[in-house]
Amino acid sequence: MCGIVGYIGREPAAPILLDGLAHLEYRGYDSAGIAVCKPGGGLEVYKSKGRLEVLSASIDGGVHLPGCTGIGHTRWATHGEPNDVNSHPHVSEDGTFSLVHNGIIENYLEIKESLQKNGVRFTSDTDTEVVAQLLAYYYREGVDILSAVFKVLHRIEGAYALGILCADQSDMLIAARKDAPLLLGYSEGGQFIASDVTAILRHTREVSYMEDGEVAVLTREGIQVYNSLKQPITKERHHVDWEVSAAEKGGYEHFMFKEIMEQPQAIAKTIAPRIRDGQVHFDGLNLTEDAIRDVKKIFILACGSSYHVGMVGKYMLERLLRIPVEVTLASEFRYCDPIVNPGTLAIVISQSGETLDTMAALREAKARGAHVLSIVNVVGSSIARESDDVIYTWAGPEIAVATTKAYSTQLAVLDLLGLYFAKIMDTISPETYTEILEELQRLPEKLEQVLAHKERIQYFASQYFNHNSVFFIGRNLDYAMGLEGSLKLKEISYIHSEAYASGELKHGTISLIEPGTLVLALGTFDPLFDKALSNVIEVKARGADVLALTTEERAADMAKIASGVIAIPSTHQLLLPSLGVVPLQLFAYYVALNRGCDIDKPRNLAKSVTVE
Ligand code: F6R
Repeated sequence: MCGIVGYIGREPAAPILLDGLAHLEYRGYDSAGIAVCKPGGGLEVYKSKGRLEVLSASIDGGVHLPGCTGIGHTRWATHGEPNDVNSHPHVSEDGTFSLVHNGIIENYLEIKESLQKNGVRFTSDTDTEVVAQLLAYYYREGVDILSAVFKVLHRIEGAYALGILCADQSDMLIAARKDAPLLLGYSEGGQFIASDVTAILRHTREVSYMEDGEVAVLTREGIQVYNSLKQPITKERHHVDWEVSAAEKGGYEHFMFKEIMEQPQAIAKTIAPRIRDGQVHFDGLNLTEDAIRDVKKIFILACGSSYHVGMVGKYMLERLLRIPVEVTLASEFRYCDPIVNPGTLAIVISQSGETLDTMAALREAKARGAHVLSIVNVVGSSIARESDDVIYTWAGPEIAVATTKAYSTQLAVLDLLGLYFAKIMDTISPETYTEILEELQRLPEKLEQVLAHKERIQYFASQYFNHNSVFFIGRNLDYAMGLEGSLKLKEISYIHSEAYASGELKHGTISLIEPGTLVLALGTFDPLFDKALSNVIEVKARGADVLALTTEERAADMAKIASGVIAIPSTHQLLLPSLGVVPLQLFAYYVALNRGCDIDKPRNLAKSVTVE
């Protein structure tokens, strides 16, 4: 999705903005642009469709632009096709205001028509341009810049994070936020705005998160924030402890591969602080032990891979807690009139903490009386701030669009939560509790073993990368894990792929199996291994090529039937997806590599989906 960065300080802004935008590339974009205030007054705007390098090359990396105040943007087209004109920053017709915008202005057509009636001429097809034109319109009426901004914010509807420059005031940058992420950064050399902290991590780790309705005025000296009533307020500052290097490739060819390889450490970092004296601890939860005992139903709300974590979580939590767990796509939840009774807990899962559908589901659940506990990777993100409780995954910044380490750490948090709840609810024996907890602690070491066999997976990928259609089949936890394996493959390699519960094959899908179809048969879940074997026989009989995933104990049996076998170490059966998903991530990665795909930035996809 679109990215914003802004700077005001003592250094020339353009190179800082271009570097910031480079760190936002991972979010997905189709055009990029910057605007800087000229030292003597006026604005310079450069923007173009396509990769950031195109823009950067066209202005020599910005080194000849002396202005020290500027804004930058990577655009992911919503209103108006990706082209130079529709790219941000947008400029008012009279050249007074330039701005960048994330979000959607819902009433832009009505505002556009009324401005056009007043003689204002528009150049782009975007919703954003109305904000620049309206600002200039109010400013021409004689109000000061800040008052003009507030007047505009009262008039527009929808979601926005805005960075605004005025040609008459080269020592000021204004930011505003509603329902789209925006943070403020403070450093010795100047002040920043950014939609994502990775854009400014090289310069500062001291940040404040803007709240809905707030407006910030940045000058070289500091930042003054106003609430929606235009009253000055003091913002809390937070220290971001992500390493700068964590958001860089560090010698790896792709962020995705680096992040796959980081999973053992990410899981260790996520679980270790929550385990003491052989017990799981979640310090500071608002959800009391009594409230946990009263939980009668759990909703898990999420999108995409986070939803797939929820699917694994359902099997695991129901087994441990003996209460119903319903996993609902966040995008559906608010439209399905969900039944939320007393004793309903909503677990919201989101890596970015900014996914709009997930945020909407969170608000719906809260409005209906559920206690909302979120599992989030980005500290201070919108979902984290609006939840009754938040448990952070300590995965560090995840840059590749296709998630890997966030998935694994979310799953590890759910496992911990399952144990924590089960103990309080008294639905687990001390022996099983200890067994699962010890196995959880062994996951990083076992994951290293899985990763050590990556060449074998690379070999299978080289055999199968030309297939056009792939089916992932499995039962129970293997089915839930297959959903993620299939998503990984389709999103980065563009191969059509589906995940099915094996039992469903006979009810339709088997008609698609023909000689040469690739089937990834997932048979790690020991209680259902024999059934997994039968399904392999079934699809083999129809000519499928079968690549199977199972445990080391079962590998020999599987090898008698499947065309190829990938084996993972054994662990407690509820934790198998944490190990099993990694070969599936690697398979997708190597297949995409063989096909020459843009692995970190797959077509049409964005890292953080902040529109509906
Ligand atoms: C797939 C992927 C997406 C996200 C989904 C939710 O690899 O990354 O499916 O899982 O967009 O994003 P978050 O977790 O940020 O809410």
